[in-house]
Amino acid sequence: MLQHLITTQDLNLDSINEIIDKAIQYKQDINTPQTLLGKIIITIFFENSTRTLSSFEIAAKRLGAKVVRLDIHKSSTSKGETIADTASNINAMKPNAIIIRHRDAGAGNYLARYVSCPIINGGDGAHAHPTQALLDAMTMKLHFGDLNGKRIAIVGDIMNSRVATSGIDLFRRLGMKVTLVAPPHFQSLFNESDNLKKVDNIKSCIDDCDVIMSLRTQTERHNYQIYSSLKDYASLFCITKELIGDRDIIVLHPGPVHRNIDIDDEMLKDSRCKVLDQVSNGVFVRMAVLDKFANLAK
Ligand code: NCD
Repeated sequence: MLQHLITTQDLNLDSINEIIDKAIQYKQDINTPQTLLGKIIITIFFENSTRTLSSFEIAAKRLGAKVVRLDIHKSSTSKGETIADTASNINAMKPNAIIIRHRDAGAGNYLARYVSCPIINGGDGAHAHPTQALLDAMTMKLHFGDLNGKRIAIVGDIMNSRVATSGIDLFRRLGMKVTLVAPPHFQSLFNESDNLKKVDNIKSCIDDCDVIMSLRTQTERHNYQIYSSLKDYASLFCITKELIGDRDIIVLHPGPVHRNIDIDDEMLKDSRCKVLDQVSNGVFVRMAVLDKFANLAK
């Protein structure tokens, strides 16, 4: 059956756990099974990416698939072809999955109407980034074993972050309690509930969290500068080693990190900072995702 992965809501709890456990198994396996041998995976990234694009491509190749990267600067969308027509034409070449990143929220959903293979969302505007939430959950699960009852503070530009949107949904479904820490102009529009709180400073919740996830200020999505300076912002929201002290807290960040604005140099060097583990785990999560979705189609 054809299925797309556009948001974390496309996965039920069993599938979420299945993907995370499979990713952990891939991480532990000495030999990688070639479950995507003979499959073609297409990546189309309309927005810049370092980690997500290479992570998906490495994941596909590790499982034996062939990867075709559509260079959007050389593709026909730059000659005026609609994105829907581009998708229909790519689809006519019968790939087994298309991975897309786009600056517009909803781009993945829209393209899904024009293709007969799974669309995997690598990030659409401020809307969703499901594989990031899965790799964050995997990283936490590897550290804690069980996520039920664990507390995470998500700090920064939550309103404009697709990482936050996907994480807020997925982490709560895994039993975590989420606190959103942001100045009013970056705060989320989600309503508070039993497992979702909103505060405007990190000090008020630092003694009640097991994980801090710092986010980049998404300047490319701001219509105008809504804070006085990034330095002022950092003085209140940067995750510093001094702030963490000797607490038993792990620190996550999806990257790219604005050093000394999101997380300071000293904290980035600390073993409690799991940023590079997240990057490593991302490949295994995307292997599990591709294995599931690209093998479902055709
Ligand atoms: C994030 C993204 O692009 O949404 N990065 C990522 O995928 N690892 C976060 C960001 O750009 O700040």
